[in-house]
Amino acid sequence: MIAVIPGTFDPVTLGHVDLIGRAATLFDEVVVGVLDNLAKEPWFDADERADLVRAAVAELRNVRVDRFTGLLVHWAASLGARVVVKGLRSGVDFEYEKTMALMNRSLAPSLETVFLVTEMRCSHMSSSLVREVAWLGGEVESLVPPNVLGPLAAKVAERKRGRHHRHT
Ligand code: PNS
Repeated sequence: MIAVIPGTFDPVTLGHVDLIGRAATLFDEVVVGVLDNLAKEPWFDADERADLVRAAVAELRNVRVDRFTGLLVHWAASLGARVVVKGLRSGVDFEYEKTMALMNRSLAPSLETVFLVTEMRCSHMSSSLVREVAWLGGEVESLVPPNVLGPLAAKVAERKRGRHHRHT
């Protein structure tokens, strides 16, 4: 069975890597979908985000990383995926994810959303907080996979040199 894990991954965190790794033990094939979500004004472009996820999960043989635009349900159908896997860190995530899962089910009744409870040590992680901590000069070694450290530091430096004066 094929499962998809959609997200913005700006950038991929250790929480994402944990979720992808656990899904890879449950499903025959896992396809990570990096959304081209320009409304979110990501720090990293979609190719950079996909490359960072790809490098972070390179040792997982049944995982591949793709990019998608448009509706999740259309992309999942094009792959023959039956399941969407999402991580739940908190009740806040649940409320948001429940709405998306119900909308996705009304759009595509045969696509099931499955939630995995986020590992406790990852429950405080989010890409937006990783960007904020990196922007403010904090340590991010315990939040992102090693391959993200260099590109994240470079992005902070690039944005501080440029016209960006905020971390968002
Ligand atoms: O990492 P994120 O930003 O929390 O991921 C959100 C994502 C990509 C899973 C969600 O925005 C999504 O599925 N977008 C695709 C567009 C879509 O299908 N929208 C309808 C879902 S109700």
